[in-house]
Amino acid sequence: MSTPKKLRLAVLASGNGSNFEAIVRAIQSGDLLAEVVCLFCNVPHAKVLERAQAARVPTVVLDHRPFADREEYTDAMLKALLPFKADLVVLAGYMRILPGSFLRVFSNRVINIHPSLLPEFPGLHAIEKAWKAGAPQTGVTVHIVDEGVDTGPILAQESIELHKGETLESLENRVHQIEHRLLPRVLNDIAWGRMTLPARPSC
Ligand code: GRF
Repeated sequence: MSTPKKLRLAVLASGNGSNFEAIVRAIQSGDLLAEVVCLFCNVPHAKVLERAQAARVPTVVLDHRPFADREEYTDAMLKALLPFKADLVVLAGYMRILPGSFLRVFSNRVINIHPSLLPEFPGLHAIEKAWKAGAPQTGVTVHIVDEGVDTGPILAQESIELHKGETLESLENRVHQIEHRLLPRVLNDIAWGRMTLPARPSC
């Protein structure tokens, strides 16, 4: 097994930030060999920013709205993120699609958490879609990000059965509980060399 490596994580988020907080807590309790070097957020005043400040994690807020196009915004993102020298970029409720020009810089090193058993229910409102469809089970997927929407190689999944007559709120709570356990666990497995990411293509 390879030598453990304390991972430098750049977390990208747009909203609530409960997954960001789960990562921070796992680090603090010694369950995740990592450091969050930066919390990047595209939404000014998002709740995740309060969580990052409370955890004393450096934040970068870059509102996407004033930018003329996606490429200009991506250039600004990279300029802001590269000085942190992150080993991995973790999408934890980041609500924008990352273009190829970003993914090529961090190739095979951008990881996303999605609240369904992919390939089922990709995209927005995945928990609600599974609930409305009456799916017998749903779950959580952690995967490497490619240029598609929730289509990249799967690293880990955990499933749960829907209870008979379960409310959407109950299902959401149960899915989030899994997320908060699964994402730190996958990151820790990468840090300890128990999970290997695909090699980065050489330029
Ligand atoms: C989570 O359900 C995650 O799977 C999805 O966005 C949600 C973010 O929740 N990608 P939070 O902001 O971490 O609370």
